Amino acid sequence: MATDLAEIMMKGMTGERVGLLTALPILEYVPSWFPGAEYQSEARKCRDMVASFCDLPFSMAKRQAETGRLPRSFVLDMLEQGEAEGLYAKDIAAGIHIAAAETTSSTLKVFILTMILNPEIQDKVHEELDAVVGKGVLPTFEDRERLPYLQAVLYEVMRWHPVLPLGVPRATTASDVVEGYHIPKGTLVIFNIWGMVNNEYSNPEHFDPTRHLTEDGRLRPDAMQDSSKYFGFGRRSCPGRFFASESLWAAAAMLLSAFRFEKAKDAFGKEIEVVPVFRRGAVSHPAPYQCSIISRTNNVNERDRV
Ligand code: HEM
Repeated sequence: MATDLAEIMMKGMTGERVGLLTALPILEYVPSWFPGAEYQSEARKCRDMVASFCDLPFSMAKRQAETGRLPRSFVLDMLEQGEAEGLYAKDIAAGIHIAAAETTSSTLKVFILTMILNPEIQDKVHEELDAVVGKGVLPTFEDRERLPYLQAVLYEVMRWHPVLPLGVPRATTASDVVEGYHIPKGTLVIFNIWGMVNNEYSNPEHFDPTRHLTEDGRLRPDAMQDSSKYFGFGRRSCPGRFFASESLWAAAAMLLSAFRFEKAKDAFGKEIEVVPVFRRGAVSHPAPYQCSIISRTNNVNERDRV
């Protein structure tokens, strides 16, 4: 359910679409049979799917809680506090899932893609992990500060391909004047993260983690602040940013500690080129690519192709 809903929402909720509907509210009343108005039936389908996605998993969790089978979780905490209904727990749980899963999974796919495209950078992460944690030993959060290169790679992944290139459409709550322009209350605002990345960094297409490091290999003091723009701005900025940063780090550190990611080979042993192609939508995902995932601890001949 989550995957289907995410698919339809990400396709329909792009900044361009929201902008068009806000500028031309009459589009809301165009019948769905009208050529080009398929967004009407998509919206109706999406509304039904959102309702089911909020209700069904929550009812299931509630039944599990009643028989003591629900593991410790956000929903269990809310149920135990007896505040689940009043605090819209089911809507919040569904919202967190949709907001967290698409963004985090896409960032991880970009991470693996960049490791395949930049094998010398992957080598450096492996060297750092082996020197600090030890080969064959899985890293823990206690190792995080001693792995600045890995962290710089993750900052660079978010910069190289921001997964929410146009953020989430917002509206102003009050009138304001910005650089001489009067912005009335209720104006639609779309922030252009893609534009920021392309204007603020030299050679923006080049994947280079050292942008976030000092000359002696430590993280630049402003690196974390600099990457906060990928999580939005002000009081509606992403509430899951700390969770995202921790879970991305844990996944990336574990994956590179255990595996090497390479281009897949065809039947003649020739490497299959990987061309970065991204799907359009509110969250930008890399299109599927073939790769080879090789265990770093088993016998090197033992290769798993995926
Ligand atoms: C790499 C991962 C993630 C990225 C790049 C990301 C980015 C964003 C951005 C740009 C926004 C809009 C902010 C704004 O309008 O100023 C947002 C909103 C949101 N994010 Fe994330 N996010 C990520 C992961 C997560 C996770 C893991 C969670 C939850 C555990 C989460 C929960 C939310 C929620 C609930 C909102 C809506 C907030 C609101 O409307 O007030 N996100 N995110």
